[in-house]
Amino acid sequence: MTTRPMNTENHTTPAGFIPALRFHALTRLYDPVVRLTTRELTIKRRLVAGLGQGVQSVLDLGSGTGTLLSLVRSAYPGAKLVGLDADPRIIALARAKVASDVELVHGDATNPPFDPGSFDRVVSSLVLHHLTREQKLRALSAASALLKYDGELHIADWSFPHDVVMRGMFLVVQLLDGFETTRDNVRGDLPDLIREAGFGDVVETYRQRTPFGSMAIYRARSRAAGGEAR
Ligand SMILES: C[S@@+](CC[C@H](N)C(=O)[O-])C[C@H]1O[C@@H](n2cnc3c(N)ncnc32)[C@H](O)[C@@H]1O
Repeated sequence: MTTRPMNTENHTTPAGFIPALRFHALTRLYDPVVRLTTRELTIKRRLVAGLGQGVQSVLDLGSGTGTLLSLVRSAYPGAKLVGLDADPRIIALARAKVASDVELVHGDATNPPFDPGSFDRVVSSLVLHHLTREQKLRALSAASALLKYDGELHIADWSFPHDVVMRGMFLVVQLLDGFETTRDNVRGDLPDLIREAGFGDVVETYRQRTPFGSMAIYRARSRAAGGEAR
């Protein structure tokens, strides 16, 4: 795998990115809040269980405090693991939590600083609902290009609600994270956006209720020309 080293001196945090709990002052509370409100470990363990055999390199887009990366490390002890996040504060929290051989990079998921075809898997959890529709498409297209041919994308995020109760509770998330960025999720548009970004074989592999709405896992296969045939 090759990564394109970023010039951190010139790099700027993406303008207007939404921090993990909307306000920087709340970022330290992210782990306990998400653990209590989203059945976090259930969905993250499901995502990791779906990554499959022979995985040698994984990129986590919007890696946050590194919980998903820690689970991936336990499942794939020898794999190259990289986390990318727009927030240097949360990268510092992740650095204290994840294994020292996990690379953490400051950068923008819509313009990730890695070479095409660098990863077997791109994973992302609870990040797309922080991005506008246009940003989602850019991040997903970039993910497609970063994958090797036949590599897989695995996304966990808020989804089309199971029922009216789930729809109602999701208003709390929308009030916190904003209506514009969360609208695609609650409309059930993520599979179409993943297809539009160039992926094939898009499937929802899992759904769960949480205290604040429905979540799903989507798996998709990259056919990007940038990836090398295996
Ligand atoms: C709700 S948190 C999810 C963190 C982690 N993936 C998890 O599942 O716990 C959203 C994360 O996305 C990051 N983020 C938001 N916009 C981003 C962007 N444009 N590029 C990279 N990371 C971004 C935030 O800094 C935050 O860490």
